[in-house]
Amino acid sequence: MKILAIESSCDETAAAVVEDGRKVLSSVVASQVPEHRKYGGVVPEIASRRHAENIVGVVQKSLEDADLALEQVDAIAVTHAPGLIGALLVGVNFAKGLALAAEKPLIPTHHLRSHIASNYISNPELKPPFLCLVVSGGHSHIVMVEDYTKMKIIGRTRDDAAGEAFDKAARTMGMPYPGGIELDKVAEKGDPNAFKLPHPVVHDAPYDFSFSGLKTAIINLIHNASQKGESLPVEDLSASFRKAVVDCLTDNFLKAAKDYNAETLVVAGGVSANSLLRKNLKKLCADRGLALYMPEKSLCGDNAAMVGSQAYYEYLAGNIAGSDLNAAATLPIDFFAPSR
Ligand code: KG4
Ligand code: ZN
Repeated sequence: MKILAIESSCDETAAAVVEDGRKVLSSVVASQVPEHRKYGGVVPEIASRRHAENIVGVVQKSLEDADLALEQVDAIAVTHAPGLIGALLVGVNFAKGLALAAEKPLIPTHHLRSHIASNYISNPELKPPFLCLVVSGGHSHIVMVEDYTKMKIIGRTRDDAAGEAFDKAARTMGMPYPGGIELDKVAEKGDPNAFKLPHPVVHDAPYDFSFSGLKTAIINLIHNASQKGESLPVEDLSASFRKAVVDCLTDNFLKAAKDYNAETLVVAGGVSANSLLRKNLKKLCADRGLALYMPEKSLCGDNAAMVGSQAYYEYLAGNIAGSDLNAAATLPIDFFAPSR
């Protein structure tokens, strides 16, 4: 089954054709990052307008690259939630129009479930059940993936997402948006033990995260130094902050794995590209005899190939939309999908 998938939940307009959930026939991503960088973050209205301008060309290119005409795909999939509402609506309406005109089924796809599915492309042998750490710009979850469309949230962030914390810390250090990537690079040259930062825990919820205290701690360090006319070494600050965030993520993830007897661990979302997170998890999982799967770096960020992968399993589970499909800014990852 060949699925044409569309993604427009944030600042990437993307389209892809994926066969049977695993084989990527094409994948096109038009990034708006250089434009949003001028403002230090994503400007929702600009994002919606750029999606509207780019979506036709991106979808056409994905069909051309796959050497297929619209009639030759079997279904249209689209990210309908969660994300920036104006941005999502562009993709949803475009996908609805295509599905109606080409008389194809329309598959609504959850953005975070798609991030998880990027692992099915990078790791063809991977199948649920597994425990997944989903870490993106907007979410940080530990999810028990019982089946492709059946999941349970085990832990979540109480405040900022990991990616958001990275971006805000990086911004305070004067790095360009999206700072998480830059901070990761700069941290390679620093001493992770140079600054002592808190290791926040959420009482009575051992798998939940809290990053806002950590973010405030680094912002205060920088501001206090600048008030005294001093500047702190950005490499050491980055390395210390990166270690603090990664330690929180890996500690809770491994605790959950132990308590839930999970033997297969998976990481997904933009932050899964973080070098220290990847390195530490490889070692920690190897020491414990756990299987670890991660997406290849090119599939960590937003793309439509992951949407096409997840959509295949949503289709098999009977999750098919009518022409009244709407976008939603929020939707839990464990929402109910109907079975046929
Ligand atoms: O999943 P994603 O592409 O978009 C959302 O769905 O939110 O995640 C984007 C987030 C941004 O916060 C970005 O800074 C972060 O992922 N990110 C990283 C790295 N690469 C991307 N954070 C830390 N280290 C990285 N290497
Ligand atoms: Zn994403």
